Amino acid sequence: MSTDLPTPITPQSIFNFDVLFNNPVFAGGIGLAGLGAAAAFGRKAAIGGAGMLKRQMLVNIEISKRDPSYSWVLAWLAQPRDNSGFLAQRLTRMRTLAVTTATKSINPGRVSDEGRTHADFRVQPGFGRHIVRPRPGVYIAVNREKASTTSTATGEPHETLTLTLLWAHRHVLSEVFTEAHALAQRFHEGKTLVYTARRMEWAPLGKPRLKRPLGSVILDEGVKERIVGDVREFLDAQQWYTDRGVPYRRGYLLYGPPGTGKTSFIQALAGELDYSVAMINLSEVGITDDLLAQLLTQLPEKSILLLEDVDAAFTNRRQRDPDGYSGPTVTFSGLLNALDGLAAGEDRIAFLTTNHIDRLDPALIRPGRVDLMERIGEATRYQASQMWDRYYGDIDKDGAGRERFLGRLEELGLFGESKDPDVPKRHTSTAAIQGLFQFNKGDMEGAIKMAQGLIPRTFEADASGIGGSLKSPA
Ligand SMILES: Nc1ncnc2c1ncn2[C@@H]1O[C@H](COP(=O)(O)OP(=O)(O)OP(=O)(O)O)[C@@H](O)[C@H]1O
Ligand SMILES: [Mg+2]
Repeated sequence: MSTDLPTPITPQSIFNFDVLFNNPVFAGGIGLAGLGAAAAFGRKAAIGGAGMLKRQMLVNIEISKRDPSYSWVLAWLAQPRDNSGFLAQRLTRMRTLAVTTATKSINPGRVSDEGRTHADFRVQPGFGRHIVRPRPGVYIAVNREKASTTSTATGEPHETLTLTLLWAHRHVLSEVFTEAHALAQRFHEGKTLVYTARRMEWAPLGKPRLKRPLGSVILDEGVKERIVGDVREFLDAQQWYTDRGVPYRRGYLLYGPPGTGKTSFIQALAGELDYSVAMINLSEVGITDDLLAQLLTQLPEKSILLLEDVDAAFTNRRQRDPDGYSGPTVTFSGLLNALDGLAAGEDRIAFLTTNHIDRLDPALIRPGRVDLMERIGEATRYQASQMWDRYYGDIDKDGAGRERFLGRLEELGLFGESKDPDVPKRHTSTAAIQGLFQFNKGDMEGAIKMAQGLIPRTFEADASGIGGSLKSPA
């Protein structure tokens, strides 16, 4: 056996430095390790440098899902854009997409279309990283992330969208937001957005609906003009309020029987003013004092607050328990606080509706809470006549049909002013007239013939008190 063979490295010889350094295998190893260390150091420096470069040269902008621009920018990202060019084509290909589908029935009411639906697919960038090229030479890296933490208010995970671009291109960001906003506006143009309370936040109730023209809601003579005039005056008077240190708020109460156009009018008014509607139904279980207060502090921008069925707060007059619990519904004090307490927003138009004015407390109607009250009542002759013109104006040129229709309603005592002692005084609602006209589309004679159907039906409980029936008096 030759003696100059390298000593085999055994566990025992590990502490023998001589052996170690004379061992070409080990020395080589150390050399490599040294190189590795140097490389690691170099890499770290490079990463550090890149990090610094990134900090110096890149701009990050983070958008939270709670911000309105989140959905605008997402929609903007999904816009088709010119990606010609070798690099752009490869870089900007989106591989993760998310789809939101909205369906609606086709021609509801037409038997042949029953069950058929129209689906609307909206594609948006999915979670993950994407690159977009808003204009030649400008690239934006997009990262849509779902955080592991959840929002305490909704229980939904937080979502963020981060846009990263070169510092030199930062001016593009303002263009991105302007374009995204314009796109959202175009999408909402001619539409009214309705928000409702979802858990602890405002959420859009369905898709934006087509604006309802103010002219399509027919209130008694002068009523509409009075309310619209007042709202407009209020909107023009912001400076007056600011100068006097008065909270810029105005409250309206619309009361009257069901189906008289209260809700429809408020929706149309919002459309007219280009506002959205933020609606809460106080008779809904789960709307508590705390929730109401919380929602009012974060009212969506440019929206009319609509509190439906405010009488619910009066039937539940119970104050808070000593332990602070106010029950599953809104209390009287909760509503008053929401309207002009500390929780009340600074800048707000509120509409309250009720079918039971008699249940309200005078404290509610104090100026500052409710500044203008209007009864929206049963259909008057004026309203019936206006509605007729809207539905049959084009075929009833000389108005003869309208006169016969109004005469028939009078005969039936539906304007509550019949001179005939045998005809009971009664009323009908504009909703019922709308129903009659819709049933008899383009058929005046049919509408006149069926006018009797406008007599309100009454619900009469039977003797046992268990059942009941709907009765239409002749
Ligand atoms: N004055 C009116 N002009 C035009 N349409 C009306 C009018 N009143 C009622 N309608 C129609 O009747 C339906 C019900 O109206 P709406 O929901 O506005 O009534 P409401 O007064 O809010 O009733 P409720 O007190 O039960 O909430 C709607 O489809 C609406 O178009
Ligand atoms: Mg209503």
